[in-house]
Amino acid sequence: MYVCHCEVVSDRSICDAIAAGARDLEEVTALCGAGAACSGCHATIEELLDDAAAAVRAPQLVRKRQALRRQERVPAPVFSASAAAS
Ligand code: FES
Repeated sequence: MYVCHCEVVSDRSICDAIAAGARDLEEVTALCGAGAACSGCHATIEELLDDAAAAVRAPQLVRKRQALRRQERVPAPVFSASAAAS
């Protein structure tokens, strides 16, 4: 699907630019030309950038949540009178 009609750039080309390292609108424009004219596509490009950033963050959040769950499973230290006496 064409996202940028002025420069005839598809969503796939924009996603390729993001995968190649573009992290903002200016970098996407520099890599594939999308957004260089009327700015009518800027909101869609920003959405694609946000989606890509969320996709990168999601595994990190899952790992963080798993680490927190593991911490909760670790039993708290138990101090008993017999252990203290020995
Ligand atoms: S639609 Fe992308 S610059 Fe005009």
